[in-house]
Amino acid sequence: MFYIKSIKIGNFRCYSDYYQEFSPKINIIIGENAVGKTSLIEAVYALGLTKSHKTSNDYEMIKKGEEYCFIKGSFFDGQEDNVTCSITSKGKQIIKNDKKVGHISKYIGFYNVVMFCPEDLELINGAPIAKRRFLDINICQIDPIYLDALSKYKRLLKERNQLLKDIKEDLGKYKDLLDVITNKLIEEAKIIIKHRRDFINKLSIFFKKQVEFISSHKEEATLEYEPSCNEDNLELESKNKEKLDLITKTTNWGPHRDDFRIVFNGMGSELASQGQQKTFALALKLALIDILKEKSNRIIVILDDVFGELDVIRQKEIIKIIEMEYQIFITTTSIDYLDSDVLRNSNIIKIERLSE
Ligand SMILES: Nc1ncnc2c1ncn2[C@@H]1O[C@H](COP(=O)(O)OP(=O)(O)OP(=O)(O)O)[C@@H](O)[C@H]1O
Ligand SMILES: [Mg+2]
Repeated sequence: MFYIKSIKIGNFRCYSDYYQEFSPKINIIIGENAVGKTSLIEAVYALGLTKSHKTSNDYEMIKKGEEYCFIKGSFFDGQEDNVTCSITSKGKQIIKNDKKVGHISKYIGFYNVVMFCPEDLELINGAPIAKRRFLDINICQIDPIYLDALSKYKRLLKERNQLLKDIKEDLGKYKDLLDVITNKLIEEAKIIIKHRRDFINKLSIFFKKQVEFISSHKEEATLEYEPSCNEDNLELESKNKEKLDLITKTTNWGPHRDDFRIVFNGMGSELASQGQQKTFALALKLALIDILKEKSNRIIVILDDVFGELDVIRQKEIIKIIEMEYQIFITTTSIDYLDSDVLRNSNIIKIERLSE
């Protein structure tokens, strides 16, 4: 079984210098509010995905007032691997077993992380941007082609929007350049849309199954991709929207405007009760584990501040599904609500308030 044996973090969030060893099974991280529980599991997450689950700005992870941070992890899966991720003003660097990793796409997928957190509710009823982030991060974990297309798309979109701003009155001399960028953008958009559609269709099958399981067959729900444009004819779509793009000085079509939604009992998720929303959020992440494990068994599961909220029966059921195969991290402010069997089998890590 793959697991992270130990971590050392420097200048990371509230930590100056911290070392911790982990159990291959369940690790319960306990401490009062703001002692650094989420920060610790964020480090485990960020070492796998090379980005935070909380922010797209890497520098936010650097301890305030410092210039760099690092996360060093030691992993085991029959053999030991050591990985260091460091962030400085020059950018991010990954070193695996003393060798510099040239491109992040060569490293992503070394291990996968599924994080359950309170913000998951945003995936049910939140803004499309949160849902696109979910798609992007997780499809990147599965497929380096997507990561490549996404970074090219983002760069081309920026270029196109800048060009739209530069065009003052007459399109004239800019027309050829606009066409070139638009065609390149369409090429990457097609790859992104195809991957998103495939991913959501597959996720939806697992999601439906997990919703049935968690709700003891009381609910039925599926996922639906909502692309922002006609994916079969992006060329036509881009032509039709060119005038609008020139007026608004931004690109009004493409996967940067995509969304997906949850349909349950024939309704939209905006009509779901709080309990139903929580069920869907949990099911979505369990479905993600189902999808990721088709590709690799190197999965670490993190439950940040969500486990104590489940009733004891569900705690046991969730642990049963995950525990057999994966290392688990659970953060909580109190162990009072945790099932005694789960507690007995766990490594308890207590985090005290730092006195600085
Ligand atoms: N870049 C940073 N530099 C320094 N401190 C930071 C940075 N980012 C966050 N913090 C602080 O780190 C502390 C720990 O935050 P964290 O989210 O890890 O706490 P937590 O134990 O998960 O708390 P809660 O139980 O409320 O979720 C907080 O006081 C937070 O303000
Ligand atoms: Mg927290």
